[in-house]
Amino acid sequence: MLPDKIFKAVVEALPDAVVIANQAGTIELVNGQAEALFGYERDELLAQPVEILVPDEFRDAHIGHRDQYVRHPGTRPMGVGVELLGRRKNGQMFPVEISLSPLVRGTDTYITSVIRDLSERNHMRNQLEMEQERQRIAMDLHDGTIQSIYATALALELALGDIVQDPVVAGKRVDSSITQLNGVIGDIRAYIFDLRPVHCSGDLLHDLAATIDEFRASTQLQVSPQLPPSISELRDDRAAAMLHITREALSNIRKHARASAIAVAVVDLDQAIHLQVQDDGVGFQAAALQGQTHRGLRNMRLRTQRLGGAFDLESAPGAGTTLRVRMPTGL
Ligand SMILES: Nc1ncnc2c1ncn2[C@@H]1O[C@H](COP(=O)(O)OP(=O)(O)O)[C@@H](O)[C@H]1O
Ligand SMILES: [Mg+2]
Repeated sequence: MLPDKIFKAVVEALPDAVVIANQAGTIELVNGQAEALFGYERDELLAQPVEILVPDEFRDAHIGHRDQYVRHPGTRPMGVGVELLGRRKNGQMFPVEISLSPLVRGTDTYITSVIRDLSERNHMRNQLEMEQERQRIAMDLHDGTIQSIYATALALELALGDIVQDPVVAGKRVDSSITQLNGVIGDIRAYIFDLRPVHCSGDLLHDLAATIDEFRASTQLQVSPQLPPSISELRDDRAAAMLHITREALSNIRKHARASAIAVAVVDLDQAIHLQVQDDGVGFQAAALQGQTHRGLRNMRLRTQRLGGAFDLESAPGAGTTLRVRMPTGL
């Protein structure tokens, strides 16, 4: 049986949250850090299945993984390569890192989970990425946009010199300057589309239509919206995520797709709102994306999953890209 006094005192003194469960997945011991992290009193956790700490949608899978772990125990991180989420008593989800190790006492094996809250680390990482994005934009504006305006100013100066002697040449120079300036305006508009904070009015269809209009105006790209006249009520955080994802998807299309046709469709079906953003552009190999540099798509997926929805991306080189999000309309 678990555990003697010294053992308990050691677990209590650890800086990380610790949860020890038996082979059946029943919690036998937690420390104060675990109580604080998950927002439960100790008595509310003891004798409960560990799945109480796992978001609803991952509980079944967790039971399967737990059984497997009992059959092949060893010290290792849980869920290598996937983003793990913990669930607090109040239902709030938060990113965690968990390391597992077996604890053998006589004939019994227990599973020790050491759980670390990654919220703060992720927050810092996001801050850093925002800072890098800012620097990239500053550089783009300096090297691209400012240089173009500079070149246009030079062309206009030349036109000024020609204006009396050779008005035809001067006219041509002015003409190409106008074209150039229109290009610069397009670039700046596209930046503004990317940078403008997303504003949710509470009416998702209205916000989507406005986003599409703004995107069309700033990029001159063709977008066909297929929005129903009304949809079932959607929780505010889910509606906001849908809007964010649409903006990010459109922004990706502008930056990467070289598409000629874009479709944004919303369907209200089977107690869920379905969003689809499709383009006929260059496409890409989704499976080949690795590492920290591309966070847009990863964030979309995570955000959706965290809100109980499903995210799906279909793309292949030369075959365009289709992104689908399904958000449940229930609580
Ligand atoms: N609609 C799209 N068409 C073509 N390629 C895309 C599209 N969306 C995403 N990609 C590819 O996937 C990569 C990752 O996208 P994302 O995670 O948003 O990161 P970022 O936009 O910062 O590069 C992009 O760099 C691009 O190569
Ligand atoms: Mg992106």
